[in-house]
Amino acid sequence: MSAGLFQSVFGRAPDVVADAPARANLLGEHTDYNDGFVLPTPLAYRTVVEAGADEGASGGTLSMHAAQFDETVERRLGEPRRGDWTDYVLGSVSVLAQQGVAVPPMRLAIDSDVPMGAGISSSAALEVAVLRAVRSLLRIDLDDVTLAKLGQQAENGYVGMQCGIMDQMVSSLGTYGKALFLDTRDLSTELVDLPADERIVIIHCGVAHKLTEGGYNTRRQECEAACEALGVPSLRAVSTDELDRVDALPEPLNRRARHVVTENQRVLDGVAALRAGDIGRFGELMNDSHRSQRDDYEVSIPEIDALAESAQRHGAIGARLTGGGFGGSIVALVPHADYDDWLTNVLADRPAAKPI
Ligand code: GLA
Repeated sequence: MSAGLFQSVFGRAPDVVADAPARANLLGEHTDYNDGFVLPTPLAYRTVVEAGADEGASGGTLSMHAAQFDETVERRLGEPRRGDWTDYVLGSVSVLAQQGVAVPPMRLAIDSDVPMGAGISSSAALEVAVLRAVRSLLRIDLDDVTLAKLGQQAENGYVGMQCGIMDQMVSSLGTYGKALFLDTRDLSTELVDLPADERIVIIHCGVAHKLTEGGYNTRRQECEAACEALGVPSLRAVSTDELDRVDALPEPLNRRARHVVTENQRVLDGVAALRAGDIGRFGELMNDSHRSQRDDYEVSIPEIDALAESAQRHGAIGARLTGGGFGGSIVALVPHADYDDWLTNVLADRPAAKPI
């Protein structure tokens, strides 16, 4: 990433610099908006935001530059969304204004090595990095959980994507080399050690995902309809002992709810397996999670299924679709010692795939 971006765009040094990571989710997909459990981990890819006051402009004006788009855009608080990267920035600052923060004119320069459309949450990395930069610039008293919630609000309320809280939480609170076991009902977290002998690998299938256009919001509505039919406040209230009731729901609500209920259990079992050092069990749970996303939740696509199948067949301990789905990437757990041969074999099967 280019050092001195702010300097080269705005002609002076920034006042503050902040950054935030992308994430991979190891287990617990589409559970976060159902009050459930998730198990993501931060990745080494980061978005960096340099920020500074803008002495020449009026309050509520944001001058923003993104290196990846080679574009400088001026936007004002209160403007409608435009449907591009600037919405994530303006949305994040807008939620602060809604909290009563007086927003002076600011300049923001953004650089990132997070691949977009790969399903590793470039959007949460951007929101959290912007909020961290503005927190530091304006010296706002804001804890990391509240900051994550504000990032989610920006995405729900301004960008128009009804995401859950997982991505912003792991970007804001995650620690490299550990999984973040998060209960999205009360936002309690625990760090869990990752295995030492295996590598977490992300492979993009070659088809970008775009959740604002995909079936993500439809899945949320289906979960709400299943809750209504079951008479529960959220699918978290349903345990795997009650799958008979779930199976009796009409199609496709039965399969949607079954995914969420069994996926919550897989996270609990997965955390227990990691703590016990039972990596084989953890891998089985990842493979089960993939099947459940493919057959019950129907958020996969053929390119992802073929990639996950190839990854498993060539010796991954586990492999599954990660993130919101409808394209994007798989996450696989592969022994360090086997990685090079494994990757060669998988890429021979799936030439459009790309490790990231
Ligand atoms: C996207 C959303 C998350 C989560 C996942 C699916 O990444 O942003 O909140 O719902 O999809 O698990």
